[in-house]
Amino acid sequence: MKEVKIEINIRSYSYDELDEKDRQLIDAAKEATLRSYAPYSRFAVGAAVLLENGKIITGTNQENAAYPSGTCAERTTLFYANSEYPDQAVVTLAIAAKSPDGFLERPIPPCGSCRQVLLETEQRYKHPMRILLYSKNEIYLLQGTKNLLPLSFGSEFLK
Ligand code: THU
Repeated sequence: MKEVKIEINIRSYSYDELDEKDRQLIDAAKEATLRSYAPYSRFAVGAAVLLENGKIITGTNQENAAYPSGTCAERTTLFYANSEYPDQAVVTLAIAAKSPDGFLERPIPPCGSCRQVLLETEQRYKHPMRILLYSKNEIYLLQGTKNLLPLSFGSEFLK
C-alpha cells in the first residue's frame, strides 16, 4: 500500500489586497446576487467572469418549482459567456453568495457539478482559470481548477 496525496493551493486575501481588476469582478458578482431568482432556497448567488477580450459577464442562480430544473450561478454565467463569446477564454471567475442574513462569512465553494463545468471550460480554452471565492472576511484565490477539483475526470480520459 502507498498513500497518494494531492495538494491544493489556496491564497486568502482581504478585499483591499486584491488588485483593481479583481475587486471590480468581485463587485460585479456581489451586485449580480440582486438579480438571482431563488424563491425556494433564499440563497442568492452571483457570478462574474472576465473574458480574454476584457468583457465582464455576470449571471445568477435560477431556481425552479421542480428543483432539479434550476441551475447555479456559475453554470448560468459560464454557459452564457461561452455561448455569446465562444472564442474567448475565461480568465477569471468570481463568485459571491448571500443568505437572508447577508453575504457569507466563509468563501462560497462551488458545487460539484459546477466544478466539473469549470474544468471543461478551462480545458476547452486551454487557459487556466483564476477563481475568486468571496466572503465578508476573506477572499480565496485559486489558480486553476486543479485546486478546486483534484483527481478530476476530463476529456483526456476519452482519448
Ligand atoms: N448555488 C449556486 O448558484 N452556486 C453554488 O456554488 C452553490 C449553490 C445555488 C443553487 C441553489 O439555487 C441555491 O444556491 C441553494 O443551493
